[in-house]
Amino acid sequence: MANNNYPYEIRDVETPETEVSHNHDEIVSIGPKGYIFPKKFREMAADIYNMEVKPSDVYVFSYPRSGTTWTQELVWLVVNDLDYETALKIPLTDRYPFLEGSMFLNDSRKQKLLDESKDNETNAKDIQNVVKSAVELVNEMPSPRFIKTHLPLSLLPPKALEAKMVYVARDPRDAIVSFYHLIDSLKLANFNGDFKQFWTMKNYQSWSPYFDNVKEAWEKRNHPNLLFLFYEDMRKDLGSSVRRVCDFFGKKYSDDQIAKLCDHLTFDNFKNNPSVNYDLMKKIGLMHTDKEFVRKGKTGGWREYFDEEMTAEADKWIEENLRDTDLRFPSMQ
Ligand code: A3P
Repeated sequence: MANNNYPYEIRDVETPETEVSHNHDEIVSIGPKGYIFPKKFREMAADIYNMEVKPSDVYVFSYPRSGTTWTQELVWLVVNDLDYETALKIPLTDRYPFLEGSMFLNDSRKQKLLDESKDNETNAKDIQNVVKSAVELVNEMPSPRFIKTHLPLSLLPPKALEAKMVYVARDPRDAIVSFYHLIDSLKLANFNGDFKQFWTMKNYQSWSPYFDNVKEAWEKRNHPNLLFLFYEDMRKDLGSSVRRVCDFFGKKYSDDQIAKLCDHLTFDNFKNNPSVNYDLMKKIGLMHTDKEFVRKGKTGGWREYFDEEMTAEADKWIEENLRDTDLRFPSMQ
């Protein structure tokens, strides 16, 4: 329920086919746009909304599977004077607490992970980081504090735009295919449907509805503290996106430095970089070892997954949702 600490109503949601809901958790829907979350999010919604915002904070946010990790590494290096040594040494997950990440750990999953960590000292710190409230982790960080989230602007602190925020958006068809693969790769998800079922359930996936999430950031794209990027632009001409990030943070680098950064960020280098490729999730038993977080890195791959009926549904869905906005995707021009 809405209260003094939190302005939105949080409602329980009946999923039509819980067996294909992505994590078998009961879900809730928040506020007028009906954003979907696992029930556990109830416990953290107000803490996140009321978090302190510092002007030096840096948020990287997005709908899931839109190039968040890629953008995080790019932003971190630009802000930190291209300190590759530290970037290679300290995993991205330690450099950027994932604000709502622990919402997927219900009490029994959390206990299971903690029990496992007792037997394996090397994993204990990583597990603590996963189970700990990210708000606490952020509060413990020195400035500038880097924060990863998939929450839309309206669920973040009202003053979040006093910080620097970088949003990355991707063609929803590719993002949803990629989301399906992520869910399929997570042990705690227990997902056993196919992509078509996942597509049907897209409005029941966490952080959805997709278009509301993206549009909230798009509406602020001209705000001086928000930079709006497209995954497809990064794929096409990474150098230009890097330069936009440098300008946004008031950083000047030579052409050689920018070329080196682009090389660091290539898909192949990224995939083989343990600091960013989330192999950590395999190590602590959250992800199946034969799956990859950094997966294909292509644009337009959705075509292999959509039959005629789904393509028509997607066309209609996109058209309806773009009617009231000037948001246009590079992949749809
Ligand atoms: P695919 O599953 O389509 O390959 P996020 O970080 O928001 O979860 O996004 C993950 C998506 O970004 C995945 O898409 C992943 O492969 C892609 N990605 C990660 N690093 C990349 C890179 N360096 N270049 C291109 N795509 C990248």
